Amino acid sequence: MQSQDWHETAMRMDKDDPLAELRREFLLPDGVVYLDGNSLGPLTHRGLAELEQTIGEWRRLGVAGWQDAKVPWFHLAETLGGQLGAIVGAEPGEVVATAQTTLNLHQILQTFYRPEGDRHVIVIDALEFPSDLYAVRSHLEARGMDPHRSMRLVQSGDGLTLAATDILAALAGDVALAVLPGVLYRSGQLLPIAQITRAAHRRGVPVAWDLSHAVGAVPLDLHRDDADFAFFCTYKYLCGGPGAIGGLFVHRRHLPVRPGMAGWFGSDKSSQFDMASEMAAAHDSGALQVGTPPVLAAVPLLGSLAIYREVGMEAVRQRSLRLTDFLIALADDCLAEFGFRVATPREADGRGGHVALEHAEAARLSRALKDRGVVPDFRPPNIVRFGPHPLYTTFSELAQAVLVLREIAESRSHLAYPAEREEVG
Ligand SMILES: Cc1ncc(COP(=O)(O)O)c(C=O)c1O
Repeated sequence: MQSQDWHETAMRMDKDDPLAELRREFLLPDGVVYLDGNSLGPLTHRGLAELEQTIGEWRRLGVAGWQDAKVPWFHLAETLGGQLGAIVGAEPGEVVATAQTTLNLHQILQTFYRPEGDRHVIVIDALEFPSDLYAVRSHLEARGMDPHRSMRLVQSGDGLTLAATDILAALAGDVALAVLPGVLYRSGQLLPIAQITRAAHRRGVPVAWDLSHAVGAVPLDLHRDDADFAFFCTYKYLCGGPGAIGGLFVHRRHLPVRPGMAGWFGSDKSSQFDMASEMAAAHDSGALQVGTPPVLAAVPLLGSLAIYREVGMEAVRQRSLRLTDFLIALADDCLAEFGFRVATPREADGRGGHVALEHAEAARLSRALKDRGVVPDFRPPNIVRFGPHPLYTTFSELAQAVLVLREIAESRSHLAYPAEREEVG
C-alpha cells in the first residue's frame, strides 16, 4: 500500500475506535509519538492527582498520614496489592505491592527455593532479563553453592524465542525451582503460563514468573492457573512512574510462610507497632515485605489502576492486539524490503504487547527515529522495540512511526549517527 493509504486506513481505525477517549487520561510527552510505554509508562492525570493529594497530606498531616491519609499509608501496600491482584487474577491477600522487581525475585529465592539433596537446580532461560540472571547466580553463591552446578539455562533456538518443549526438557528430577518470563523482554513472545505451570507441577517444580512485560498488557489468571509465585514492575504499562513500587504474587497454597528476608513491614498489621523482638508475620503475601513502602513512588498507581479497572483487562488486550496486528502488517508491507524483520511471534496467543523489529542497524535507526519525533527503544544487538500502549497509542501514530522509519531506512540518514550503544532507557 502507498503511504497515503496507510495513513487513511489508520485514521479510519482511530475514528471507529471505541476506546479512543482513553488517551485523554494520559499526560504524554509533548510533540512525540511515544512508543516506549513498555519501558516507562507516562504519567496519568489521575496518578498526578493522587501524587498531589499525597504531597498535600504529607504537608498537612505529617506522620499522621500513616493513619489519616485518604488511603492510609500504613495499609497502602496491601490496598495496592488488592488492586494489582485484580489485574493479574489473584485472590485477596495473594499480591502485595512492595520493593522492586529484582528484590522481589531475591525474596522469592530466599523464601521458596528449598534445595534438598539432589534437587537443587534452578532453571532459568538464557533470554531472561539480565537482572534476574544476576539475582539467581548471586543467590546461589551467597548460599555457598556453585552456579555451574545449580543453575540450568534453557537455551533459545533462534536467540529470540523459547520453545515450551525446551523449557520442560530442562525440568528434570534435580530441579527445585524455575524462573521464567511471562513475556520476553526483547522479542515480546508470550509464553503459555498455565500450560507450563501445569507441566512443571507434574514434575514437582514450582515456577516463579517474571511478569514485568505482561502485566497491564495481557490478561492474567494467576490463581486459577495455579501459578506459584510472580514478580513484576509497575512502571511499564501500568504507569506507576519511574522506579515505582513492584508487585509480588504468592499463591494462597504457599501461605502463610516465614519470609526468607524478614523486616518489620512484613508483620501482621495488628501487632507491627508492638515492637516485639520476635516477628509475628502477616498471614498473606504481605509477610514478604521488608521495610517501609516508598509511598510517593506508589500512589500514582492508585490513579492508573482505576483506569485499568474501568476498562477491564479483556478490552485492554483486544485493543493491544488490534494495535500490534496493525503494526505487524505495516512493518511487513513497508519495512521488509529495507532489511527489517518482525521478530515477535505473529500468532495472537504467542505475543505480548510490544513488537520487536530486527535490523542490523537497529541502534542507529532508533537514534534517528528519536530525532524525528518517534520514541522507540533499542535492545542490543539488533532490535528496535515499538511498544504501542493499549490505552493511548493511536493507529495514526503507528502509521507515522513506521513510515518515518521507512523514510530513514530508504534515505540511509541513520548512517550519520554513531553506531555505538544507545543511552539508558
Ligand atoms: C523483564 C524484567 N525483569 C526485571 C527487570 C528489573 O526490574 P527492577 O529494576 O525493577 O528490579 C526489568 C526492568 O526493566 C524487566 O524488564
